[in-house]
Amino acid sequence: MNKSKLAIGLFVAGTLTAVFGLVIVFVGPIIIDDQIVKNLVIDPKNEISYTMWKDIPVPFFMSVYFFNILNPTEVLAGEKPMVEQRGPYVYRKRLQKQNITFHPNDTVSYLEYRSYYFEPSMSVGNESDVVTIPNMLVLGAAVMMENMPIAVRLLLSATFKGFKEGPFLSKSVGELMWGYDSKLVDFLNKWFPGMLPSTGKFGLFSAFNNSNTGLFTVHTGKDDIRLIHKVNSWNGLTKLIYWRTPQCNMINGTAGQMWPPFMTKESTLPFYSPDVCRSLELVYQREGTMKGIPLYRFVAPKTMFANGSDYAPNEGFCPCRQSGLLNVSSCRANAQVFISQPHFYNADPVLLDYVQGLQPIEDEHGLFIDIHPNGPPHNGHPANLTQLWEALESTWASIPVECSRVHALMN
Ligand SMILES: *[C@@H]1O[C@H](CO)[C@@H](O)[C@H](O)[C@H]1NC(C)=O
Ligand SMILES: *[C@@H]1O[C@H](CO)[C@@H](O)[C@H](O)[C@H]1NC(C)=O
Ligand SMILES: *[C@@H]1O[C@H](CO)[C@@H](O)[C@H](O)[C@H]1NC(C)=O
Ligand SMILES: *[C@@H]1O[C@H](CO)[C@@H](O)[C@H](O)[C@H]1NC(C)=O
Ligand SMILES: *[C@@H]1O[C@H](CO)[C@@H](O)[C@H](O)[C@H]1NC(C)=O
Ligand SMILES: *[C@@H]1O[C@H](CO)[C@@H](O)[C@H](O)[C@H]1NC(C)=O
Ligand SMILES: *[C@@H]1O[C@H](CO)[C@@H](O)[C@H](O)[C@H]1NC(C)=O
Ligand SMILES: *[C@@H]1O[C@H](CO)[C@@H](O)[C@H](O)[C@H]1NC(C)=O
Repeated sequence: MNKSKLAIGLFVAGTLTAVFGLVIVFVGPIIIDDQIVKNLVIDPKNEISYTMWKDIPVPFFMSVYFFNILNPTEVLAGEKPMVEQRGPYVYRKRLQKQNITFHPNDTVSYLEYRSYYFEPSMSVGNESDVVTIPNMLVLGAAVMMENMPIAVRLLLSATFKGFKEGPFLSKSVGELMWGYDSKLVDFLNKWFPGMLPSTGKFGLFSAFNNSNTGLFTVHTGKDDIRLIHKVNSWNGLTKLIYWRTPQCNMINGTAGQMWPPFMTKESTLPFYSPDVCRSLELVYQREGTMKGIPLYRFVAPKTMFANGSDYAPNEGFCPCRQSGLLNVSSCRANAQVFISQPHFYNADPVLLDYVQGLQPIEDEHGLFIDIHPNGPPHNGHPANLTQLWEALESTWASIPVECSRVHALMN
């Protein structure tokens, strides 16, 4: 059996499409009107916009797809993994800002809590569907074990056998997402404390429900509307510590839900995503409309996850593999986790050769955010925020849409 090929095969097949709900976006009307600017500022006195900011009233959805491995036995014998996409399993996401504290320098801190609720009506399949994916515990342990003494390695592989854990895992979607009991996890926590990020059940998203995304301090826009929503610090840090260059460690832009008003086609949408462990920036692609509302579409540039040799500014995110993969192990407790766009969209096409069943398509797999730049048509009158919001709300409510997609890949 060709071992390195197997490792790469698993690494690719381990792909889990998780659509993080960075999502939607609302930018206030654009007529330069002092009153409107004042109304946008994050301030409890601006009832409508403050309430929208605090408990964003549009529904957020997270759609999760799994790549079910169809030929696990053959993969162990050295064949190429064959995958079938399952899903979406759609979760409604409730966001609530808490611990809101205003500071005298026109910034405000908050914790944003998220909770998830399965939406059967929007899903294809249900949480009891069983899928086969690579066993991240076993593969992760195998990678960590490479540098351990032989005695420990023998002990661990005997343990895997004892607990009947192999390189693949067939479990229900609900268990894979939100955690399952595992004797192996109990064993690892007892004998190798700190090896796993959490001590409870093991699941891909078990740490997400009812957790917060860290303490954000953002500008209220009171001093300068152009700074509104811009992140000043995250968990007390004004720059990150995960990456190797100051440029890669910068916390740019907003928290990814709202941006300052007055967007143009030259604007970019920078944001910091704790889930991806870095700042990202979307660039203008084209105009569009949705139910008569004008939209600008901003998309991920091709270089977003390019490696350091393809795009020098990304050198700080390395050690890298092929372009299109972001190595996030430094912010995931050193686990070997990579992030890509779904189906390796905008990644090195060679990745598609390692596994059968992937087909990147821009419309389905590209990361984008539609943003309302200017307010609705208004004959020179300032846009009515409430009206606009209602229009948007009904639009979003009818669409099970991810406006942004990121894809986590584990090996
Ligand atoms: C948030 O507020 C709660 C209740 O007021 C408090 O117990 C908790 O310590 C606060 N958390 C942070 C991180 O400030
Ligand atoms: C504003 O004040 C907060 C709290 O004291 C502090 O964390 C933050 O760094 C300050 N921001 C600026 C831009 O001065
Ligand atoms: C998330 O937590 C909430 C509140 O505890 C609970 O009602 C909900 O069922 C949980 N969601 C999932 C998917 O487990
Ligand atoms: C999930 O779907 C299967 C097959 O369609 C069905 O038998 C089962 O009852 C469903 N489970 C739930 C909880 O709806
Ligand atoms: C942050 O913004 C600066 C200035 O625009 C840019 O040079 C840098 O590459 C950005 N960093 C990230 C990680 O996006
Ligand atoms: C960077 O990406 C290119 C294209 O995907 C690839 O040919 C090259 O080997 C990668 N470099 C490293 C260091 O992995
Ligand atoms: C990912 O990055 C970590 C350091 O952050 C490094 O130790 C590891 O070797 C990298 N993984 C790969 C496969 O390049
Ligand atoms: C804005 O629209 C809402 C809902 O259509 C309406 O109730 C409100 O009176 C309007 N406000 C102004 C200033 O026109």
